[in-house]
Amino acid sequence: MAGVRKRIPNSRPGGSHLLLTNRTVNPPKKRFKLEARHLVFLVVGLGVGFGVMSVINSIWMSSRVYTPFERQEDDLVKYDMSKFWGTYRPQVYMGMKTKSPQSLVTGLMWLQQYENYRTDLPLRHTCEQGDKLLRYGWLAHDGGRFGIQDIVERDFVLRTEFVKRDGGDNGGDWTWRITGRSQNDGNPIALSLFFYAATDGQGSIASVISEGKNGKQLTEIQGETMELGKFVIKFPSELSGKQGLYHTVTAKSEGLHKIKDTALRKMQATKAKRKNQDKLFYFLGDTPNRSDPPNTKSDVIFYQVTFELPFEIEIVFESTSFQNRRDTLAGPKFTSLLASIKDKFDKKFEKKFPLKDKGYGPEEIQFAKAALSNMLGGIGHFYGHSLVQSEYQNNPVKYWDSHLLTAVPSRSFFPRGFLWDEGFHQLLVSKWDRSLSEEIIQSWLGMVNIEGWIPREQILGDEARSKVPSEFVVQHNTNANPPTLFLAIESIIEAFNVDTITKKDREFLKKIYPRLKAWYNWFNTTQAGKQPFTYRWRGRTADSDTELNPKTLTSGLDDYPRASHPSDDERHVDLRCWMAFASDTMAKIAVVVHPEIPAEAEKYAATHRLLTDNELLKELHWSSDMGLFSDYGNHTDRVFLVRRTFQNPQPGQPPTTRTVRVEKQTPKLQFVNSYGYVSLFPFLLQILEPDSDQLNQILQDMRGDDNLLWTHYGLRSLSKRDSMYMKRNTEHDPPYWRGQIWININFLAVRALKHYSTVDGPFAGQAQELYKALRKNLVQNLFEQYSKTGYLWENYNDINGKGQGSHPFTGWSALVVLIMSEQY
Ligand SMILES: *[C@@H]1O[C@H](CO)[C@@H](O)[C@H](O)[C@H]1NC(C)=O
Ligand SMILES: *[C@@H]1O[C@H](CO)[C@@H](O)[C@H](O)[C@H]1NC(C)=O
Ligand SMILES: *[C@@H]1O[C@H](CO)[C@@H](O)[C@H](O)[C@H]1NC(C)=O
Repeated sequence: MAGVRKRIPNSRPGGSHLLLTNRTVNPPKKRFKLEARHLVFLVVGLGVGFGVMSVINSIWMSSRVYTPFERQEDDLVKYDMSKFWGTYRPQVYMGMKTKSPQSLVTGLMWLQQYENYRTDLPLRHTCEQGDKLLRYGWLAHDGGRFGIQDIVERDFVLRTEFVKRDGGDNGGDWTWRITGRSQNDGNPIALSLFFYAATDGQGSIASVISEGKNGKQLTEIQGETMELGKFVIKFPSELSGKQGLYHTVTAKSEGLHKIKDTALRKMQATKAKRKNQDKLFYFLGDTPNRSDPPNTKSDVIFYQVTFELPFEIEIVFESTSFQNRRDTLAGPKFTSLLASIKDKFDKKFEKKFPLKDKGYGPEEIQFAKAALSNMLGGIGHFYGHSLVQSEYQNNPVKYWDSHLLTAVPSRSFFPRGFLWDEGFHQLLVSKWDRSLSEEIIQSWLGMVNIEGWIPREQILGDEARSKVPSEFVVQHNTNANPPTLFLAIESIIEAFNVDTITKKDREFLKKIYPRLKAWYNWFNTTQAGKQPFTYRWRGRTADSDTELNPKTLTSGLDDYPRASHPSDDERHVDLRCWMAFASDTMAKIAVVVHPEIPAEAEKYAATHRLLTDNELLKELHWSSDMGLFSDYGNHTDRVFLVRRTFQNPQPGQPPTTRTVRVEKQTPKLQFVNSYGYVSLFPFLLQILEPDSDQLNQILQDMRGDDNLLWTHYGLRSLSKRDSMYMKRNTEHDPPYWRGQIWININFLAVRALKHYSTVDGPFAGQAQELYKALRKNLVQNLFEQYSKTGYLWENYNDINGKGQGSHPFTGWSALVVLIMSEQY
């Protein structure tokens, strides 16, 4: 697959069409006598030439979308072997893999026995909201060496713990300990755990059956893969706890995304007496009459063990290259190593986020630890390609295969990489472990193509793709997403003094700089507006008649109201602010990377000055009618969704009804005048001068008498008086950024308030008051919702503060840790 991709050098001139054409037209030779037929040949020749050239040109142009910026591979994503193994499968309740293209994976499923299930077997595996678990997530996880997670079902709690130990050349050892305890006093509970190991198209695994205490049983899985070399996975020879039935089966699977299906295919049931009632017991066994699917990619070995609760079991992975291991990481060894790493984690947490000093109690601190741990435990490693499309393609084509190390917004609902979420994620991750964050940022920048574009949503590999409806898979190279990685990079630069910067950090900036430049330039050119120094999000559909307001998915704020009639005349104030911010960060990096070329930094600084010129900003985006910053475009407020009857195109069929948008006023070029997150951007990204009248206005309105944005739980996304407030966008599309409280933007708000409260200016006192109040509201509500529901949520209800949307959402909602510790 990789061979098909053409590598095109960076420096290739853009105007190849003309260049090549010129060469085909030879000047007439001296002895040449021009005749009519020559002219005909010439014209035909030229025509064919142009035809051929334009074909070549369009092939070349169309290849650009899937041509990497430059070869990178392992140069950028260097394996840090101590972080080779990890819980990099955030989409499953418990699973580990290595950072390899075709990793050996391990995972866990479970099933409560002796229940007579009427529908599908509730075999738990991938994180699903439909499982309705009372709570699950990492209570402690350091992003590298250990983790402790509780999974709370109605009647019992599973605790999954792991510890890793370095040794040898292939990523070392690890051990899992799974503990189960009942939450149900009366009835005994029998639970089956299904541990599995699976290959992904390379390597081999084999079970070792030996005579144990309870007869013949699976005691080991032995295997070998390209990166891991030889290894052994060990199971206990003696099972503690009551019962301790065990089963094992070796199977073939179509791929990692089909492992659960494979288990179900091998599942059999027998009748069993349980408290004098007939119940079913499910077990894995070879079922010769259910044959393997034709295209198998994985070998899977399942190890099923069934216990009465409570129980405890350990599974030990040992790398054969780790030769002088003194002991096996199990039993008391495991307990003491876990305790000592956990202790280090607690101390580091206290040092990095001194929450006690901020007046928080043990429960609030545990909440913050869980938020951070879920961000870290939610880091996934993916390998594969996106499907992308440019204007030169009629059908989607493959991006190149590549690694991506990324945190994910939600383990259940969005277990994959999202560009604009990631910048927010890395604000938190970088405060905890800067080198991990740098690795993640580099890995994202590895996605830059030769045009300077990064696909917004990264759906890599079968496991990731199996979670996404097909219409959302294809990424278009005209589409942007807020360049929030600059937020993270800026906060990394702020963390080190430019004079005392370490070699490693300098290297990091040097490495990412050329890619950032390309990315920045892509924004500055492809997302430019009609007027100089204005910007416009691409990707809005102008011809939809079902949307109340055509969505701007690319801005990250999906259905936040913009100009009602998308057009080239639009200019978006949030994008302009993002560009101002990015220009500043680029200038800062250029100073470090190219101190010898002052003009390099100056170029960005000049654009930054222009984009932060408060007068110019006012001219372009300040709506003095409404006293707010606003988008500008072809717009009317008077749009409505109505149910209409349409004639059926099929003759003789009854008419159909559809909900469509109608306009009760002709749109015209004007400010959009919606009051909400978008109008706050010059404040959020600190573009406004501290003595600006507009800042004054924004601060006054923030908690004005009408509380248009202010709530007890944070700032709502859209004024409750806006004509689109909490309106559906189509019949099938509930509101999303039309009132809900989102934590990423609230984070930017407290951060900006903190900024304006500490710089000299007439409004510092006012900013300080708002800062305190907003921070308190946010922390209080997120903590309260977490205590009540067990989760952090995608967004929060502006009327009652309730968590809503997908959960757990420990992407940017976990920024609450930074708000608590006041690190912005
Ligand atoms: C396998 O085949 C046997 C004999 O035909 C049948 O009784 C049994 O139900 C089949 N098992 C499954 C799981 O289909
Ligand atoms: C961004 O684009 C504008 C308009 O084309 C240009 O004048 C400016 O120099 C660009 N900035 C940078 C840093 O490339
Ligand atoms: C605004 O949109 C309307 C409806 O599509 C169109 O007729 C009109 O020409 C547009 N106005 C401008 C200035 O683009």
